[in-house]
Amino acid sequence: MSSEFQWNKAMNVGHDRIDFEHKMFLALIKNIADAYRLNKPKEFLTRLLIELERYASFHFCSEENIALEHGEQNAEFSAHHRIHEYLLKELRTRIRRHHAGEEDSMAIVTFLIDWFGRHTTQDRERVARFSTGSEPDPAPRASGSGKT
Ligand SMILES: [Fe+2]
Repeated sequence: MSSEFQWNKAMNVGHDRIDFEHKMFLALIKNIADAYRLNKPKEFLTRLLIELERYASFHFCSEENIALEHGEQNAEFSAHHRIHEYLLKELRTRIRRHHAGEEDSMAIVTFLIDWFGRHTTQDRERVARFSTGSEPDPAPRASGSGKT
């Protein structure tokens, strides 16, 4: 399982700040996998999952702000925000199921690896649009809410 947690160039999305935050994201998922492997108490695993959920919320807000700086607005911004809302909802549902004993820790680690992979793929596509799109907008406007 360890290779999934090694940062590699294929994980780069091409934006320094986003890549920096993704490295932290991966480290948090690795902490969860390590806690599971070391048979740490379930309560501790739940706390690590809550830490990850809070970091995800912060990270998605950061990405949306970066997208606004690069001129993303209106329908494109709203679609971006909805994807983040969906990912957070999915993550929260899985954490709740884990807490309720409906899902074991291995299942949630597998889910997190897949979830992280889907998210970075979406980010890579978005950052590619930044690099071919307009210059950063000095007065960004968003039609979506700032909530995550
Ligand atoms: Fe991201």
